[in-house]
Amino acid sequence: MTTPTPQPIPAPSPGAVPAHVAIIMDGNGRWAQQRGLPRAKGHEKGAESVRVAIKACKKLGIKYLTVYAFSVENWNRPKPEVEALMNLLKKFLRTEEREFHENRIRLRAIGRLSDLPKSVRRELNHVMQATEHYKDATLILALSYGGRTEIANAARELARKVKAGILEPDAIDEAAITANLYAPDIPDPDLMIRTSGEMRISNFLLWQLSYAELYVTDTLWPDFREEQLAKAVEEYGRRHRRFGLV
Ligand code: FPP
Repeated sequence: MTTPTPQPIPAPSPGAVPAHVAIIMDGNGRWAQQRGLPRAKGHEKGAESVRVAIKACKKLGIKYLTVYAFSVENWNRPKPEVEALMNLLKKFLRTEEREFHENRIRLRAIGRLSDLPKSVRRELNHVMQATEHYKDATLILALSYGGRTEIANAARELARKVKAGILEPDAIDEAAITANLYAPDIPDPDLMIRTSGEMRISNFLLWQLSYAELYVTDTLWPDFREEQLAKAVEEYGRRHRRFGLV
């Protein structure tokens, strides 16, 4: 399979652009396998797709992009693959910092960040602090992330507040749970894209995806380019979001 040639992004109709796109970047391993390459090469090419997606989102006017870069379950992959992903992440943070400044992009991260190797955490904290004042666009990396873990953390936090007498059990509503998630200030995703054809949510943003439009493409993540993102956004523009209403 060859990488598709980048196509110009068609202009979306006004109002139809999602403010927040979340992506399950799946298929790196299969992409590599199809070429007889080690899985790490698929992840490398996948990191390139992340760079492309950031630029394409900026161009389309998408303000928030969340990418599922490493799940809590991913720690169970073979050690060399986990190491390759951590190194790739470090490299990505180092090389992208300039782009973030040039494009006024803020970096955020969600997940059990304390699980990450110290060197990755150092780099991550540095770039997050250096870009925290940018308002044009936000890239959110989901790292050592699990939706159930996030909800369990919020429940634990609320229980602590009840025990400390600063919260009434009756005051626990949806807003209270949201306020105790990893990034309560980030609006819920409007569109969730999953690559490589699997019809699963895989423990990604379980709370936040409640009303998101889902878009699954057979394209493997390393082949995902501007054209594929534009197609997903175009499809989103055709959907009628009803939020449980008629
Ligand atoms: C899923 O593909 C992908 C991952 C587990 C990791 C995603 C990581 C990247 C795209 C690169 C690093 C990210 C950044 C932000 C630099 P898979 O390996 O499960 O693919 P398969 O299902 O075909 O085996």
